[in-house]
Amino acid sequence: MLEATSRTVFYSLAQVNWLQHYASQYGMARDRGFARRFIAGESIDDAVQEVRAVSSRGLLLTLDYLGESVSTSEAAAEATRDYIRILDAVVQSGVERNISLKLTQLGLDVDRATCIDNLRRILQPAEAAGFFVRIDMEGSQYTEVTLQIFETLWRQGHRSLGVVLQSYLTRTDGDVARVLALGARVRLVKGAYNEPREVAYREKAEVDAAYVRQMKALLDGNAYPAIATHDVDIIAATKQYAVEKGYAQDRFEFQMLYGIRRDLQASLHQEGYRVRVYVPFGQQWFPYFMRRLGERPANIWFVMRSVLSERG
Ligand code: FDA
Repeated sequence: MLEATSRTVFYSLAQVNWLQHYASQYGMARDRGFARRFIAGESIDDAVQEVRAVSSRGLLLTLDYLGESVSTSEAAAEATRDYIRILDAVVQSGVERNISLKLTQLGLDVDRATCIDNLRRILQPAEAAGFFVRIDMEGSQYTEVTLQIFETLWRQGHRSLGVVLQSYLTRTDGDVARVLALGARVRLVKGAYNEPREVAYREKAEVDAAYVRQMKALLDGNAYPAIATHDVDIIAATKQYAVEKGYAQDRFEFQMLYGIRRDLQASLHQEGYRVRVYVPFGQQWFPYFMRRLGERPANIWFVMRSVLSERG
């Protein structure tokens, strides 16, 4: 399948050091950086500026400080301190208090206890300041442990915490029921990693069918799910299901990524739906950027045009 192949290619390219080096030199150049379409900047100040523009269009937001797996407890502690500084900056700036984070950034690959400690360190000031904190979902090797950590913290009373489930994983119907049993908030996505066929659907039709099935279960579950997709057919199916069931527009929200389908974000907002934009920022933007290219190889032409115009 073309989609799975392109994902594999971009996933491999994301590991290439010289490419990463080149990209980090040119990708975020002010005004003309080719990665700026998808990434709000490298600093929290850049991100706050972009977030203000997003909010002024009537959209909600979640801020994601980009970073992937760290392999030492020092690096995990540093990422945790960065996040706490970001919470502070968000409070100072007055923008909406909603963040997304990855557990491997907080030390999940070092050990589970370190990761939970770091997450608690972030949750303490976050909860005191009224933030909502969403745990992003990473590759399938982390799905079970991520859910277990989420459940542990939820049972300990951390109710401003939500999780992400990925429709491409064959296990996800069960996970939807599992998280709904807690009454917790799920962001439903198709899934962005390069997964083997043993654990994931490979055909778009299968992923889409699973997504629609899980969207319905989540809407029925009434725990304020986030339907995070740019797929117009799935968005139409969600609206239609809500109408059929007599569900109010504020029973759920749509979510989309910064820089993708701004037209759709605006039209849904105009129709009265809640739309949240996921705004990523930070110096470690390359793997995130490559996942976005892998989803839609046509984006490579957009990048090439920016690079050529920069040179010319
Ligand atoms: P699909 O890939 O079928 O695309 C539908 C249409 O959307 C395309 O035809 C195109 O028009 C547009 N589109 C999609 N991707 C595009 C791109 N990169 N560039 C330009 N246009 C594009 N994944 C994950 O594994 N863990 C996570 O925690 C998250 N978190 C997350 C948060 C939010 C708010 C969103 C919207 C998405 C995620 N994802 C994610 C990513 C998700 O798994 C998925 O890879 C992307 O959303 C793309 O899938 P779509 O549902 O948009 O459908």
